[in-house]
Amino acid sequence: MTNGNAATGLRDLNAGIPDAAQLKGAVSAVYDDVASWSRTGDFWNWGMHCPELLNELNGLRPNFNAGVSDGFSEQLYFQTLRGLPYTTNDFKTLKVLEVGCGMGEGLNFLTRLVDPARAVGLDISGAAIRRANAILARGDRLTYVEGDAESLPFEDGEFDLVINVESSHNYPDVEKFFREVARVLKPGGHFSIIDVFDPRSNQRFRGSLQQNVTEFDWIAERDVTENVKSAIRQRMAPGSFFRKEYARKQMPLRARIIGGLNGAHYAGADFIGHKDTLSKVLELARIRTKFVGEYESYRHHLARRG
Ligand SMILES: C[S@@+](CC[C@H](N)C(=O)[O-])C[C@H]1O[C@@H](n2cnc3c(N)ncnc32)[C@H](O)[C@@H]1O
Repeated sequence: MTNGNAATGLRDLNAGIPDAAQLKGAVSAVYDDVASWSRTGDFWNWGMHCPELLNELNGLRPNFNAGVSDGFSEQLYFQTLRGLPYTTNDFKTLKVLEVGCGMGEGLNFLTRLVDPARAVGLDISGAAIRRANAILARGDRLTYVEGDAESLPFEDGEFDLVINVESSHNYPDVEKFFREVARVLKPGGHFSIIDVFDPRSNQRFRGSLQQNVTEFDWIAERDVTENVKSAIRQRMAPGSFFRKEYARKQMPLRARIIGGLNGAHYAGADFIGHKDTLSKVLELARIRTKFVGEYESYRHHLARRG
């Protein structure tokens, strides 16, 4: 393929996507709103269910979720540590960054499992970051900063590990994000990313891996689609912890309409083929297919910076 064709291909991929600044403004406004009604302890991801992972997690921290959650979102976070060459003891000297940390619950959870020397969470939602700092921050050891994944406010080589959970699909330029991650990582540091992909975002992701836009050595890939679908199915089941919590939440009507019946939209029920009224309306209005597309897989990728 010539460069000209490659450029045309990229233009096709970009067709129908609002410009980057517009998209980022919309994303931060949406999550600022979600932060205004979310409760302490809320994660913002679809979770995953893997019995083996759950056993391991319970071994490290018995009854980690007793009475406070269904444990699926914590398992998704725990998955980001899988395949890393660090012992619990090694973590004591490591500096960890999470990009797209939401209200910070996931990073807080991980730091209670592995206790790194320093952990920083970054998110584009100012409201989410203010809440994280007010409720979860612990001095220099765990802090949260507002910022953009594509322009990280950190020095070169500041971190040993960067994690990213169900967030990169929002970024207009994933390659720019990868370059920034490579810049803030020390040589030999690791990047752990887990996210959902639609055909367009998958093509972009695979493209940037092939073009090797960074000095990353991609060392592991695990498809967790079925594990994520299992968590979503259990959350959507009658009487589930998720459904009970959703019913109890005090949220504005607009958030309940967006979330759909039993919180189907927030739980990721689209991914298991569940179409609620909102999905149907968005599809009819050609908004969903235009901007979101159909999700095809949920994967964890691990890279080492050369
Ligand atoms: C689905 S939520 C996941 C939050 C968290 N990782 C979790 O699993 O609970 C996606 C997060 O990515 C953040 N985000 C989206 N675009 C971003 C960007 N350009 N820079 C930083 N954060 C971004 C959103 O504000 C939101 O908090």
